[in-house]
Amino acid sequence: MGATVVDRPAPEVRRLRFEWPDDLDPDWTPLTPPLAPVANAVSLLMPHVEPYVVRTVRDELDHLDGPLRAEAEAWVQQETAHHGAHHRLNRILIGRRPSLGRIDRWMARTFAWIGGRSRRFDLAYAAGAETVAFVVARWVDPRTGTLFRGADRTATTLFLWHLAEEVEHKSVAFDVHRARGGGRVAYAGGMLAAMVVMAWFTLLGTFAGLVASRQIWRPSTHAQMLSWSFGFAFELLPAMGAALIRGHHPSEMADPHWLPVWLRSYDPDTRTMPEWSLDLVET
Ligand SMILES: [Fe+2]
Ligand SMILES: [Fe+2]
Repeated sequence: MGATVVDRPAPEVRRLRFEWPDDLDPDWTPLTPPLAPVANAVSLLMPHVEPYVVRTVRDELDHLDGPLRAEAEAWVQQETAHHGAHHRLNRILIGRRPSLGRIDRWMARTFAWIGGRSRRFDLAYAAGAETVAFVVARWVDPRTGTLFRGADRTATTLFLWHLAEEVEHKSVAFDVHRARGGGRVAYAGGMLAAMVVMAWFTLLGTFAGLVASRQIWRPSTHAQMLSWSFGFAFELLPAMGAALIRGHHPSEMADPHWLPVWLRSYDPDTRTMPEWSLDLVET
């Protein structure tokens, strides 16, 4: 792979303040009941996968220069803010749902085992995980109105802020991977590994959530989740295929429309942005 040329501004670092009630309902999407267990499972994974990819990219900073170094530094700060925010939510969720604590510990052991075995693998995993995260954002963006209708607004804002920044910085880890000599096959392999780990733990965490919320035997829950899974696979598989095409760069993947617009409403003075509501997507 050739040299990496970056001509984008570095991502903006936004440190949002979230205030969580101690009695937050773990089933915070009452009108779309299967969504909260899935989202909670994803949230649980973030303070494990993100510190791993942050360590990976941070260890390469001294080998980067120019705009890519500035981008990578901002990326590290964005990711650190993401998993810090998820960690606070997760403490509440585990407090209310102890079964999630066991999965959390399993996640910790998994990433302790994965991390640091091979610098090349770690970089490929970081690049691949970022593409998976971008695809999640692209799948969620046009569905926010149906997925989050009636949901807890703070939790919704956390997830959508995170996804919006995944869109903003979708190319950074790939460029670091490439600048440090990573190839296309490794990138595709990293993406596959990241997807498998995410799918497995999302499944496990979702199962625990569905049992705890007594949805596990509800046919409509499974029908809903099956439809989401097919829709997401339809979004993800072409992206994975494109990753193998020579010359493909993540910047060529079309951004979703709403999330980047909403992200611009961040106010650095108050460290807030308008909490998500139906009005925001319907106007
Ligand atoms: Fe993130
Ligand atoms: Fe990211």
